[in-house]
Amino acid sequence: MPRPIPMTFERIGAAALLAICCAVPALADDAAAGMDAGMAQATRSIASDLMTELGQKLKGAMANDGPVAAVSVCKEAAPAIAKRLSAQHGAQVTRVGTRVRNPTMGVPNGWQKDALAEFEARMDKGDKPADLEYWKVVENSDGKRELRYAKAIVTQPLCLTCHGKSEDIPAPLMDKIRAEYPDDQATGYSVGKLRGAVVVTRPL
Ligand code: HEC
Repeated sequence: MPRPIPMTFERIGAAALLAICCAVPALADDAAAGMDAGMAQATRSIASDLMTELGQKLKGAMANDGPVAAVSVCKEAAPAIAKRLSAQHGAQVTRVGTRVRNPTMGVPNGWQKDALAEFEARMDKGDKPADLEYWKVVENSDGKRELRYAKAIVTQPLCLTCHGKSEDIPAPLMDKIRAEYPDDQATGYSVGKLRGAVVVTRPL
């Protein structure tokens, strides 16, 4: 006869599971299998650090120097912050768009397009945009396991200044955007629409 497991052990087991699941909600099974809760939390922080730092820089520049000058701040700060966080964490961090302003940084690759499509579909079903995340652990072309994470970026009122309908953007600002980004596609958004995602790729 196998010895019955005392209740207390089951309870401890359940509590541990609960702790893991609550620290990392909504992780897909395949992602959860390849990564611990600490890794997931650290990856989330990289993405939120990028958005927080950039948001502060952008708001400061808009308030102090106005939107035309803020375009240059975005142009310098976004790649610089992404580069620093990437080096700091041994990861690749960037922002991608559903339509893109900076074609050298902002174009989603294959899995990032999948993540954006999944976010759009979930928003159509009524999921809250701010909660949308995508996780996957895959073997890359070098046979190494890597974690792929995306967090939805949703259009807010402030963003419309530079990403709203082009006819609503004041001429001097639109001229500046066109001068810096001749191939700009990133206008025509409205509040609540998916603007893009922060994407993080890290070796495991
Ligand atoms: C002052 C004008 C300005 C405002 C306001 C602004 N952006 Fe941008 N945005 C830019 C510029 C310029 C770029 C290109 C930056 C670069 O060169 O990497 C950009 C790029 C992006 C990208 C990267 C993808 C791409 O199109 O290249 C995302 C995502 C993005 N913005 C989201 C937002 C969101 C969300 C807000 C509101 C919170 C916002 N932006 C507000 C000017 C602005």
